[in-house]
Amino acid sequence: MGRGQRGRFITFEGPDGSGKTTQTRYLAQALRQRGIRVLETFEPGDTPLGRYLRQILLGPPAAGGPEAPESASWEPVPMAEMLLMAADRAQHVEQRIRPALDGGIWVICDRYIDSSLAYQGYGAGLALEQVRQVNLWATGNLWPDLTFFLDPGPGGPLTGWPSPDGPNRPDRIEDRGREHWLRVREAYLDLWRQSPGRICRIETAGKPPEAVAQEVLAHVDRWVGREAGGS
Ligand code: TYD
Repeated sequence: MGRGQRGRFITFEGPDGSGKTTQTRYLAQALRQRGIRVLETFEPGDTPLGRYLRQILLGPPAAGGPEAPESASWEPVPMAEMLLMAADRAQHVEQRIRPALDGGIWVICDRYIDSSLAYQGYGAGLALEQVRQVNLWATGNLWPDLTFFLDPGPGGPLTGWPSPDGPNRPDRIEDRGREHWLRVREAYLDLWRQSPGRICRIETAGKPPEAVAQEVLAHVDRWVGREAGGS
């Protein structure tokens, strides 16, 4: 299939609670209103196998929960966690993302390889180059065309930090606390500085989601215009 007919691959990234899921939905809706065919998807977990992997990766026991004493033994070590994320991604790319792109469908994905670089590389201390290589291998070198980094700033997540006592119990990775959250945010800043052409940073602090969505769409329009041979 010719280059012109291939769908475009756009990802949303950011630390926990940065509003990616909402923005994925807004962008998918806006594109559909223009008659573009869109696959809205996420990682980890958006395949039949991925649903099992997500349970392993994020599932109980959360710290402080009744299962906590066992957690130390079953929790994946950073390398296992990275490989499980890559396994989820391999399945996702082969079963869903690549067929959609090949069929001319745009793919809007909530998290992708940058999440593994930020969380398993910068966050958990695995060598960045190895995380990158494993993921390139797992995905057959499928890199997003455009990535939005939603940056809530150092002040913290937009939606409030999930507390073990609150309505949204934190998942195993969110439960790593504020220092980890800040490290992940710094990681994204670093990734953005390294790839300013692919990664577009949008500051979200104090902005309603609709305003962020407008910024995202405006950037997509400029990007499509440039790709079509504009300035
Ligand atoms: P997600 O469902 O996007 O959570 P949220 O909506 O709260 O951001 O992702 C679940 C968790 O998985 C999140 O804490 C980030 C983590 N994660 C990684 O550590 N590495 C990865 O490669 C991916 C895709 C996610």
